[in-house]
Amino acid sequence: MPEPIRILGIAGSLRAQSYNWAALRAAQKLVPAGVTLELFPLDGVPPYNQDEETKPPQKVVDLKARIRNADGVLLATPEYNYSIPGVLKNAIDWASRPYGDNAWDGKPVALISASMGLFGGVRAQYHLRQCFVFLNMYAVLQPEVAIGNAGQKFSEHGELTDNAARQLIALLLQNLAAKARAARTPARAAA
Ligand code: FNR
Repeated sequence: MPEPIRILGIAGSLRAQSYNWAALRAAQKLVPAGVTLELFPLDGVPPYNQDEETKPPQKVVDLKARIRNADGVLLATPEYNYSIPGVLKNAIDWASRPYGDNAWDGKPVALISASMGLFGGVRAQYHLRQCFVFLNMYAVLQPEVAIGNAGQKFSEHGELTDNAARQLIALLLQNLAAKARAARTPARAAA
């Protein structure tokens, strides 16, 4: 039995009723066989301060360890003012530093966005994809999963009720798992 592919899910929202958290919870039920999806909440990550990057807060130490231990990352993000929410960008910045100690380096990554707007957060997705270039993350390009009008796609209990979105997330997870499997080094696979 091969070791499961471990995916780490991170949402760019701290809101209790967040649609993006709800999308990650839906994704947990849609993972293919042989894949796990654990979630890491960003609550408590302090604002990035370069003076502290060689002795970062414990929450950041934990975040970097969880990223490194994962075979791939699944980000679910809202769009704030046509871009990446500060809470997510802040976490990305912390985990990328200090220079030469970038926890995102070489990680396969897939994106979901959910927003109240018609376009479902695609502008935040494009800004994130720009970050992946310098972070050296291997982005899954298809399918694009942008859940627009999110208020109509989730039940009052936070369940993703939209079948098209569920099918796209399932396919995205398959593609992320394939990329993660291919990127796994012999050392990681044997660990
Ligand atoms: C928003 N929202 C929003 N929506 C969108 O589609 N495009 C946008 O540019 C913005 N901008 C924006 C800025 C700020 C500061 C807030 C608080 C909200 C609305 C956003 O889609 C909505 O609040 C989502 O519900 C946020 O995602 P979560 O928290 O439900 O995951």
